[in-house]
Formats: sequence, C-alpha cells, structure tokens
Amino acid sequence: MKKIVILTGAGISAESGIQTFRDSGGLWEGHDVMQVASPEGWRADPELVLNFYNLRRKDAAKAQPNAAHLALVELEAHYETLIVTQNVDDLHERAGSAKVLHLHGLLRNARSSANPQLIYDMEDREINIGDTCDLGSQLRPDVVWFGEPVPMIEAAVAEAAKADIFVVIGTSLVVYPAASLIHYVARHAPKFVIDPNRPEVGPIQNLEIIEEKATTGVRKLVDQLIAEADA
Ligand code: APR
Repeated sequence: MKKIVILTGAGISAESGIQTFRDSGGLWEGHDVMQVASPEGWRADPELVLNFYNLRRKDAAKAQPNAAHLALVELEAHYETLIVTQNVDDLHERAGSAKVLHLHGLLRNARSSANPQLIYDMEDREINIGDTCDLGSQLRPDVVWFGEPVPMIEAAVAEAAKADIFVVIGTSLVVYPAASLIHYVARHAPKFVIDPNRPEVGPIQNLEIIEEKATTGVRKLVDQLIAEADA
C-alpha cells in the first residue's frame, strides 16, 4: 500500500463550527495570544488561561466531525494513512481515523505541571485552579503553547519523509515547525493543498492547490485518490 500523510489545521474543523485562529473573526482576534497561550501568560494569570481552554474544550466537545473528517477515513482502506494535525480538537478520532498524530496536543487532556508524563482525560470537564495531579501540582491544558517545544515534530518529519502522497488541509502554514513538514516530502511525491484562501507555500514541486473549502475539496480529492489506488 502507498503511504499518504495528511497535515490538517483549523480550517478542516471550521465547518464543524470551531473557530479558526487567523481568519477574520478568528480566535486570535479576540485574545492576546501571549496572555492565553504561552508559558508567560500561564505564570501571570493561570485562571485566565484555564478559562480560555475550558471554553474551547466545551466548544470542541459539542462539535461534530464534518464530511471532510469522514472522507479522510475512507482512504484507510486504500492507503497507509496518517493524519498529522495541528488541531487540538479530537474530531479526526471521532470521525474514525485510526492514526492521528497531534503536534499541538489535545484539548480534552489535562497535564501535570510537575511531570508532563502525567496526563488526565477530562472529556468536556473544566480544569480549574486547585485541580491537581497525583503529585499535588496544578493541572494545565495538555496543549503546546507558543515558545514551548513540539515533542511530536521529529516523528512527524520522519513520516512526511516517507510519504508517497502529502495532503495539506485548512492551515495558513505560518506556524513552525508544523509548516516546515511539506519541505521534508520527497520532491517527486504528489502534494495537494486544500484551502479556499490560497496559502503561501513557496516553490514546491508536484504541488496542486485546490481552492475549495474542506468539505467539498477533500471529498473530490479522496474520490480521485481512491480511483487511482484501485487503478
Ligand atoms: N475549509 C478549508 N480551509 C479553511 C476553511 C474551510 N472551510 N475555512 C478557513 N480555512 C483556512 C484558512 O484559509 C486558513 O488558511 O484554514 C486556515 C486556518 O489558518 P489558521 O487560523 O492560521 O489556523 P492554523 O493554520 O491551523 O494555525 C496553526 O497556530 O495558533 C496556532 O496552535 C495554533 O495549531 C494552531 C496553529
């Protein structure tokens, strides 16, 4: 089976009703990133940070996977399929994707401030000041903040380097290291970008840009890739 690696961003969850970050009306329009999504913000006002993620956790739990998430699952019968997502919602998992690599963590999980190996599944529950891990330290959202390392990036680079096909869906490709993944894909491998607003990707070989929203663009591409796999 050929290997397909799919990098997703907030745009694939937009049609599930989850705000993107940099579109007009996006999450970063209403919030100071450094106040709610950085270690400095956490030290300055942990309650503000916890409330920001509590709201996002509730929104994500209420959202449903959309046709784009579901179409990607169909690829698994024809390709070795890996989703590498920047998203912290679990819509890919809930759509049925078997292999999902979260570069920026998972909203539904809480993490010990003392030991990052201590993870707790909160589902849609809040994390509040005074909620502690088994070691007695304050629980924090298990997401990657600006300025923090991205532990899964090495694994994602290794997978991208082995991809026979690489697909990018719904990301502005402005946040690194996630945005660098496309540059690790073999030059000869077909690459596709699905986004209604053509993102800047630079000179990439064998790249096709599909200027459509995820639910229609992914449907078309999945049908095309399944037909090719079975040819
Ligand atoms: N279908 C497909 N793409 C869409 C749709 C849609 N319906 N609606 C918007 N988009 C596209 C936008 O055109 C944009 O290119 O989704 C992209 C969203 O970009 P961002 O808001 O920057 O989100 P993302 O690229 O995922 O951000 C990366 O930045 O703030 C950090 O950690 C956060 O993971 C996030 C990272």
